[in-house]
Amino acid sequence: MKKIRIADGIHMLTMNVEDILFEGIWEIANGVTLNSFIVQGEKTAIIDGVINWDGIPETLYRNLEEIGVDPNDIDYLIVNHMEPDHSGWISNFRKIKEDFTIICTDKAAKMVSSFYGEDKIRVVKEGDTLDLGKGKVLSFHPVPNVHWPDTMYTFETSTKTLFSCDMFGTFGRMGEHFFDDELTDEEMEFFEFEGIRYYSNVMTTFTPSLRKALEKARQLNASIIAPGHGPVYRKNPNKIMDDYYRFSQYADGKGKNEVTILWGSMYGMTKKAVDFVEGILKREGVKYNKLQMPLESDSEMVATVFKSAAVIIAAPTYEYKLFPPVAAALDEIGRKRITGKTAFRFGSYGWSGGAEKELKEIIERNNMKWDFIDSVEFEGAPKEGHLEKIEKAVLKLIEKIKDKIVE
Ligand code: FEO
Repeated sequence: MKKIRIADGIHMLTMNVEDILFEGIWEIANGVTLNSFIVQGEKTAIIDGVINWDGIPETLYRNLEEIGVDPNDIDYLIVNHMEPDHSGWISNFRKIKEDFTIICTDKAAKMVSSFYGEDKIRVVKEGDTLDLGKGKVLSFHPVPNVHWPDTMYTFETSTKTLFSCDMFGTFGRMGEHFFDDELTDEEMEFFEFEGIRYYSNVMTTFTPSLRKALEKARQLNASIIAPGHGPVYRKNPNKIMDDYYRFSQYADGKGKNEVTILWGSMYGMTKKAVDFVEGILKREGVKYNKLQMPLESDSEMVATVFKSAAVIIAAPTYEYKLFPPVAAALDEIGRKRITGKTAFRFGSYGWSGGAEKELKEIIERNNMKWDFIDSVEFEGAPKEGHLEKIEKAVLKLIEKIKDKIVE
């Protein structure tokens, strides 16, 4: 755990967490940070706690003491969001201190009570404030459905610091650099993809609510944005807000100038056409990503499809339906409400088709509104005529995404 001074009387405690499935689902290849913030006036508040994933907060207590905060002197636990990566330490804290007040929205209060049995709760609404003394005044701003209904921002008015919890967060471990102005170009690139991974894995289903939360953040005109996961933005807080707006567009079908080939092949017939398509994309100078299912993690698959303006689905018929690992991947993308992508499918069949029918069902069932170029199916191996049709479709795909590129 690291202790970082954000401003006078404001500290961040942060730790990297690795080797976990985030939300019990997402295999995060590069870990994630959990950030907690301490605001000290005459009274002391902690905004979102941070503990080891095993639920042991002793490290937190020791680090608090090292920045001059006796855990027993904490008066307020501010729960911006009840999900246990931020609130899981409350029950343990109760063991060392009796008298504290939890501050949260009404929706969070219900969960804090049902998850942890707490009842000394002050429910706050838009614009409510808490004066900690010595000039430190916190205001509270609910941002429902980011990504749970209980979420709120806490804003420290004297330093204009926005504690945004999950909003503006990113996956990815932090090394020795914690602020945007310290990040190297390589680290900036790292957090660009890890931000996309985070948004697409955890947040994208709630994109309309995130856009409202983004508007609220802009109105607060913060000088510092301090999220619950990832770096703190003090040099250019607008950048992460602009990035989040861009990510929200990826949810609606825009994307980077990249093509993702989401593919699977039983005995190499569909793969022959995948190899052919790779040659076309190389020849045309188009950046592409290959995701062979079921070998990719869901985290990587969702993030990569999400950020791409175009998707090529290459999958055969399997038992009268779409090759199951690719069907499952598309269903997951649909559940995440990633809509409007420009797409093209091809694939092999043996004694019968059926893949195409299931593809249409998945797209319709999830209301994905993807813009498809006519599919190409082939019996057994692709023949010359099939490859010609596939080449035409790929060139059309590249042309079609030109007005959908947002980098
Ligand atoms: Fe970082 Fe929704 O928890």
